[in-house]
Amino acid sequence: MNLLIVYYTGEGSTRQIARGLAQATGGTVRELVDSRRMENGGMFRTVLATLLGLETTLVDPDYTVEPYEQVVIMTPIWIGRPTPAVMTFISNAHLRDKKTFVVAVGGTAANSGAIARLEKRLTARGAFVVGHGEALGYIPDPKAVRPSDEELAAEGILLAQTVRQAFEPQSRSQATSAGTPA
Ligand SMILES: Cc1cc2nc3c(=O)[nH]c(=O)nc-3n(C[C@H](O)[C@H](O)[C@H](O)COP(=O)(O)O)c2cc1C
Repeated sequence: MNLLIVYYTGEGSTRQIARGLAQATGGTVRELVDSRRMENGGMFRTVLATLLGLETTLVDPDYTVEPYEQVVIMTPIWIGRPTPAVMTFISNAHLRDKKTFVVAVGGTAANSGAIARLEKRLTARGAFVVGHGEALGYIPDPKAVRPSDEELAAEGILLAQTVRQAFEPQSRSQATSAGTPA
């Protein structure tokens, strides 16, 4: 697949899931870095910006998507919303007519509101949203057991099948008809 996987991560779980997805699809990963996160109290300021629906400034941003046929956009979900870094990427990349797939990473897999927000923004930018998925990252509770990097990467590997089918539904039907006797 000629796939770009763009993601933001605050604590690292989305990075591991993205790596698993890249391993299974041969996709290229690109991490977004939020300049606010680098400042004192960066995590708090970034979460506050998320709550307020603000965008941000990315560090060394690369908005190039032209060489890729498909783009997966992955974001942690904070207070029911996608992160400013990912919203900033969507606002600046040339996504017109680009096939995109959205992945929400949360402490739960119940983030349909955040997914709808992402899809709306992508559609407004002229992108085709071919599907979406949810992945489980860290539960925001100090007592919760954190999944290992390997477990998170395994989630990304599992997700690859859904992503492939969303981007290339015809390859599935071709495979089915190829296996059907004449
Ligand atoms: C301030 C804050 C708010 C969060 N809000 C949500 C939420 O609304 N829904 C959800 O499913 N997870 C929520 N989470 C959990 C994160 O989405 C989860 O830990 C995710 O794995 C973070 O990704 P990262 O490790 O790539 O930063 C929240 C976490 C934090 C720190």
